[in-house]
Amino acid sequence: MHGIVFVELEKFVKTKLGAEAWPKLLAHAGLSQAKYKLTAAFPDEEALKLVGSAVALTGMTAPQILESFGDFIAGDLLQMYAGLLKKEWSALDVIENTEATIHSVVRQKNPGAAPPALEVKRVSPQELVLVYRSQRKMCDLAKGLAKGVGRERAQALTVDEPDCMHRGASACRIRIRSA
Ligand code: HEM
Repeated sequence: MHGIVFVELEKFVKTKLGAEAWPKLLAHAGLSQAKYKLTAAFPDEEALKLVGSAVALTGMTAPQILESFGDFIAGDLLQMYAGLLKKEWSALDVIENTEATIHSVVRQKNPGAAPPALEVKRVSPQELVLVYRSQRKMCDLAKGLAKGVGRERAQALTVDEPDCMHRGASACRIRIRSA
């Protein structure tokens, strides 16, 4: 996974739990030697170990952690990739265009990164359905990212997930609506 995920995870943990929580988390995950940076990619397995340790140390569930993390990183991601986004895009427009304008560029420029191919059905100006398939099964991260994009664009979004791979579906269907 792209180093940005790990660098942001460190920022998230320090912001939510305090600076001393990060070395504790690394130690619990058996990753005390890890030095994450933006310009490299790191094994998915390490991200999973860090989430597992965060579950053990905070008592939160993995879905809660992933969703909260997604919400947290949306602002930084939008800022870093602002050049690819149109200012007039609503939150739903940003999500609709993530695959074509952002993830596709990340895939090209960062050979170690494999963002999920997001399939989007724009049901109406106020609603879209995101079909998410990834071996990583991080639909909770996607839901958090969607909420965070809404927050950044000052638009309240409601998010639900009628079908989910964690409940046996072949793909997750995430429905996102604006008021
Ligand atoms: C400016 C906006 C965004 C940027 C720059 C961005 C970039 C990235 C990057 C770099 C990764 C790591 C991939 C890897 O290392 O293999 C990633 C993963 C992911 N992205 Fe995005 N993303 C953005 C918006 C979104 C949005 C709006 C969604 C969904 C609503 C989304 C869903 C995901 C998910 C679920 C993953 C986890 C990896 C997986 O499921 O396979 N992203 N993204």
